Amino acid sequence: MKRVMVLGSTGSIGRNTLDIIGRMPGEFRAAALSCRSRIREIAAQTAEFKPEAVAVNSIDYTAGDLRQLLPAVQFYSGEEGLLKMIEEVGADIVVNGISGARGLLPSFKTLECGMDLALANKETVVMAGSLITELARKRNQKLIPVDSEHAALFSLLESAAERGVAEVILTASGGAFRDFSTEQLQNVRVADALNHPNWQMGPKITVDSATMANKGLEVIEAHYLFSIAVDKIKVLIHPQSYVHAMIRTIEGSLYAQISKPDMRLPILNALSYPRLLGADFADLELGNRELSFLPVDYQKYPLLALAYEAAKTGSAHCVVYNAANEVAVEAFLKERISFLEIAAVVADTLNLDWYGSTATLEDILDIDQRARVETERFIK
Ligand SMILES: NC(=O)c1ccc[n+]([C@@H]2O[C@H](COP(=O)([O-])OP(=O)(O)OC[C@H]3O[C@@H](n4cnc5c(N)ncnc54)[C@H](OP(=O)(O)O)[C@@H]3O)[C@@H](O)[C@H]2O)c1
Repeated sequence: MKRVMVLGSTGSIGRNTLDIIGRMPGEFRAAALSCRSRIREIAAQTAEFKPEAVAVNSIDYTAGDLRQLLPAVQFYSGEEGLLKMIEEVGADIVVNGISGARGLLPSFKTLECGMDLALANKETVVMAGSLITELARKRNQKLIPVDSEHAALFSLLESAAERGVAEVILTASGGAFRDFSTEQLQNVRVADALNHPNWQMGPKITVDSATMANKGLEVIEAHYLFSIAVDKIKVLIHPQSYVHAMIRTIEGSLYAQISKPDMRLPILNALSYPRLLGADFADLELGNRELSFLPVDYQKYPLLALAYEAAKTGSAHCVVYNAANEVAVEAFLKERISFLEIAAVVADTLNLDWYGSTATLEDILDIDQRARVETERFIK
């Protein structure tokens, strides 16, 4: 029985992870849960899954509030509290489903404490790809991607890496505005951007799917996770979201991973790795189904082009790309800027002088903070 720590348990990845734990009580048990502020949701999860500990990262609740809402469970609060819970409670594997740059330190703490990491928080790899992969290698801990495209590549590359891989292909649904012209994008609203055709996800990643910044983050993620040159990572629009990734071997064959768009499959495979466990939610019958692929229009999705540039320029630019995009999306969600201005402020921020060391986590967090200040300046 694996003890699983679920960070961000109230979010989309967290809830899908708990769904699997609930379906497979003989395989997995929830050791600990965490959230930012959705305290009633985590209290309900605590009553159902009976974890040993819970961490809440919100200043809105006092210790007294938490004791009342979370009786009979050890609780931790604040950012320090979350890191302490990872260290003190421990688990066989930690699922990091925290959204944004706040997931960075918990990822490092997990590996430093000798636990395997099932990583949905792509920001960890975008911001600190070399450091986190090196840490996992040195400690001999597993770093298993949960992002569906990277989970697909992880298994495809395991079986074909030795045979010579020419390129990898990440697929993209095209998000909420796939069929919109650039003119139509000028007037889109927050509610439109949050209406993803294929996936149920948190608000930040759903907006990122509409701008394709999400695919940009994933190109950077693939570059660091699998040590693949940026030029060998291709993106194709695939509206149905059945093919999650492909690899092309040197003699020209394409290999694909195909399943229903359901995040429970990559989460289950990460939890059970290296075993495969039987499940029924991802089976896809291909009869009478259409699989189509289209090239990306980089004029329409400038944030994807900017991500390629950032990945080629260097790791500091990847940190800036992520920070600027996070601040811009937050501003869009609060209706402070328009949809098209997200890409504009990220481009403006990246155009500043960002050469600097990313050798330590402190360096990375310093660049991240400075980029956020500059982006906010452009937004204002
Ligand atoms: N959703 C997907 O299908 C999917 C697929 C691939 C990759 N990912 C990646 O997985 C991560 C999570 O995505 P999501 O869609 O699950 O996000 P989400 O639904 O917004 O959930 C985010 C979770 O993180 C918690 N959280 C947010 N800020 C925090 C902070 N400052 N400190 C501690 N906890 C915090 C939230 O707590 P509250 O609920 O209390 O706010 C929530 O539990 C992202 O990096 C995303 O890119 C997601």
